[in-house]
Amino acid sequence: MTDKTAGWPGDMTARERSERMIRVDHAGEYGAARIYAGQLAVLGRGRKGDVLRHMAAQEQEHLRTFQALIADRRVRPTVMLPFWHLAGFALGAVTAALGEKAAMACTVAVEETIDAHYQKQITALDQTEPELRATLGKFRDEELEHRDTGIAHGAEQAPAYRLLRAVIKTGCRAAIALSERI
Ligand SMILES: [Fe+2]
Ligand SMILES: [Fe+2]
Repeated sequence: MTDKTAGWPGDMTARERSERMIRVDHAGEYGAARIYAGQLAVLGRGRKGDVLRHMAAQEQEHLRTFQALIADRRVRPTVMLPFWHLAGFALGAVTAALGEKAAMACTVAVEETIDAHYQKQITALDQTEPELRATLGKFRDEELEHRDTGIAHGAEQAPAYRLLRAVIKTGCRAAIALSERI
């Protein structure tokens, strides 16, 4: 995100910047919840079911928080939501069908991307939005826990781990760019 000075044509005001952050974060948490739902549909009864349910429950809380912010601040959600609904679930279900370790590799890729994204936002917010900043900090810590959980449960032993991780990260970054703009 580029730093712009308010007042010039095409520049973002602080409010627009926060709205854009909330829009993309809502989209991201929506997608994350759907990824875990897709994983649970395949692996919910397996050995990793409880691990996945714990992460899924945290994503639901993240999502609820952004749903409330969207409503309170009257932010328009991204038009991409119906697509993330399907794409998120498909990503979770397909990686889970490849196996538990591939599902965990997906988690690592997604959570690493979200960590970097939240970190960028936290830096950009500075002291202007202390509450939002604190929320992002808490969620970022939990996303890092999810990444660590993925690694602890064998993500790196997934077949074609590096390729899988790179492809998913690229997809997530594209999803973030789209959800910020439209
Ligand atoms: Fe999350
Ligand atoms: Fe997460």
